[in-house]
Amino acid sequence: MSANQLHLGSAYYPEHWPEERWCGDIRLMREAGLTVARVGEGAWSTFEPAPGEFHFEWMDRAIDLLAENGIQTVMGTPTYAPPAWLTQRLPDMLQVLDSGRVVQHGGRCHCCINSPDMAYATRRIVEAMALHFGRNPNIIGWQIDNEFSRVCFCSRCQALFREFLAKRYGTLDNLNRSWSTAYWSQSYSSWDQIPIPAEPKHNPGLVLEFKRFVSASNRRYQKLQVDILRANISPQTRICHNFMGWFDGLDHYEMNEDLDLSAWDWYIGTGHNDYLSTGVIHDLTRGFKRHNFWIMETQPGSVNWSSINNMLCKGEARSMAWQAVGHGADAILYWQWRSALGGQEQYHGTLVDQSGQPRPFYHDVKDLGADFKATSHLLSGSQVVSEVAMLNDYASRWSIQYQLHHKDFNYVTHFTHYYRPLAAANVSVDVLSADDALDGYKLVIAPALLILNEKRVRHLKAFVERGGHLVLTLRTGMKDETNAMLPVRQPGALAELAGVEVVEYYALTEKVPVSGDLFNGTTQIWAEILRILDERNTKVIARYGAANGWLDGQPAVTVHKCGKGVVTFIGAYLDDAAQKLITDMITTAADVDGVMETPLGVSACRRVSPAGADIFILNNHTRSTQHVRLPWAAHEHLGGRDVGTAIGLEPFGVAVVTKLGMNSGAGAA
Ligand code: GLA
Repeated sequence: MSANQLHLGSAYYPEHWPEERWCGDIRLMREAGLTVARVGEGAWSTFEPAPGEFHFEWMDRAIDLLAENGIQTVMGTPTYAPPAWLTQRLPDMLQVLDSGRVVQHGGRCHCCINSPDMAYATRRIVEAMALHFGRNPNIIGWQIDNEFSRVCFCSRCQALFREFLAKRYGTLDNLNRSWSTAYWSQSYSSWDQIPIPAEPKHNPGLVLEFKRFVSASNRRYQKLQVDILRANISPQTRICHNFMGWFDGLDHYEMNEDLDLSAWDWYIGTGHNDYLSTGVIHDLTRGFKRHNFWIMETQPGSVNWSSINNMLCKGEARSMAWQAVGHGADAILYWQWRSALGGQEQYHGTLVDQSGQPRPFYHDVKDLGADFKATSHLLSGSQVVSEVAMLNDYASRWSIQYQLHHKDFNYVTHFTHYYRPLAAANVSVDVLSADDALDGYKLVIAPALLILNEKRVRHLKAFVERGGHLVLTLRTGMKDETNAMLPVRQPGALAELAGVEVVEYYALTEKVPVSGDLFNGTTQIWAEILRILDERNTKVIARYGAANGWLDGQPAVTVHKCGKGVVTFIGAYLDDAAQKLITDMITTAADVDGVMETPLGVSACRRVSPAGADIFILNNHTRSTQHVRLPWAAHEHLGGRDVGTAIGLEPFGVAVVTKLGMNSGAGAA
């Protein structure tokens, strides 16, 4: 997919419509400024109506028509929607639920991705597609499958899970020891005694490994397709998958290793965009490959699957699109172009309604089309640059999720709690894998990094030794990679770095006061008592007030000077006001600034061109007009005018500004 263009697009399913209607649809796409269409991912039964009988000519004609209208294509492999003839002939490929029920044909994603029959059928359709479409110059990218999320409990998956465990643990002794299987007499004397975790209460080691197994199964299935495509498609054509943001069913870092481009599907469902919480999902996706990404699907105003399928406000989708671009998106594609007359998603939002006429929402997209046309060159090749990294870890999340200890503890909410004050101050953040190296950052925040390994500890130590500021939070350093408790107090091997250890952790039923010089606040959900290990270099920033007796007066937040670096340990789950104050303290100490000052409700993001020029995206997320003072006289690129040092943003208004004098060719390095 071209790295030198900001793309606007939509999912388009020509197979839903008689061919004579395509022209009208595609003309409307062109008029809205669309430059890309994603096709094919649901079309298996049209591509291959009978075993080995392929019909691709109709899609060739659709791709040609799109290209004649200046629209390039992303081709999807249709393997999330196997046809009825296939599952009828090979019923063994159907997915089995944890209840033991075999999934019926009639929905989608109904096959076991570990099934050899499914692999055979996948190979056949993907190879045929790759051979047929692989060299088509109008296809700029391939999407593998659609939103991987499958988990199967069939006997084959059971056997493969045991093989997976045998490879990881080597011997049963090792597995038994790692999982403490003497507990409740679970000791295994043969691999084939180990169950697949269909019951709600299983050994935590088993549960964590099953999550890894599911993720590895999806990766293997994805790799099967990647390898076929790579061998047959043009080398410059990028391969991606549309992931689902914070979806927890996969280790997205591993999944993305085999892909060229990260992409995600951004849906709000009920309500409206809360930009302070959604920015982190873009940053997460950008972190999968540490590069710009695509929004492969987003809602054209409304969806059909939420509790209330309300419409976004007029202008809100445009603002969302620009928010994504500000965080590194190079493409925004709506799902889907036109309401199909039948099928399960009749009421989903679209750009064009069932009659073929543009919906009111179409005009928001048309505005965006004009925006992208005006700024595509400017933003071409630009990247987000951050001084702050937040560390994400799927294993820690999986472990916590299985043993919440407090029903309201949610890994993502806790992570976002640390992100929101940074977002409110327009501080740019990279979300990285907890295993990534941390060179070049000033501040690293590792929320609830429950599981430690040697690599993580090494990276964090090196970061602090170089003078970095590290923030550790509650639940840190509790476990090893087999989900066993470490035989030491939290935060395990990070204790020396932190200058403290955790004496006890408490799930809370009520708020507990936490106060110090910086704030008088509260903690909720969780509280950890910290014991100072390095008296000389550790300062207590806040203590718990009167609570359950155990916590009263005990250290809650500490700052440890560790060589050239600093480690802040936050054992409390602070209220929003206190969280903001402590974030301000940390960013000031770490010498981290926001990219620009804006009123609350307005965000500023920065992308840096290959030539080093700063491009700012200002975004009003509110329903009232807002005014931003700029630090310099600016050129605004959407309106194409100089604006001086003040800019007004209408409700959901957006501005793309550069310092005056840099208004042309910022992206043309
Ligand atoms: C997902 C799927 C699409 C469509 C949308 C509807 O993102 O990938 O095929 O079903 O949901 O919101």
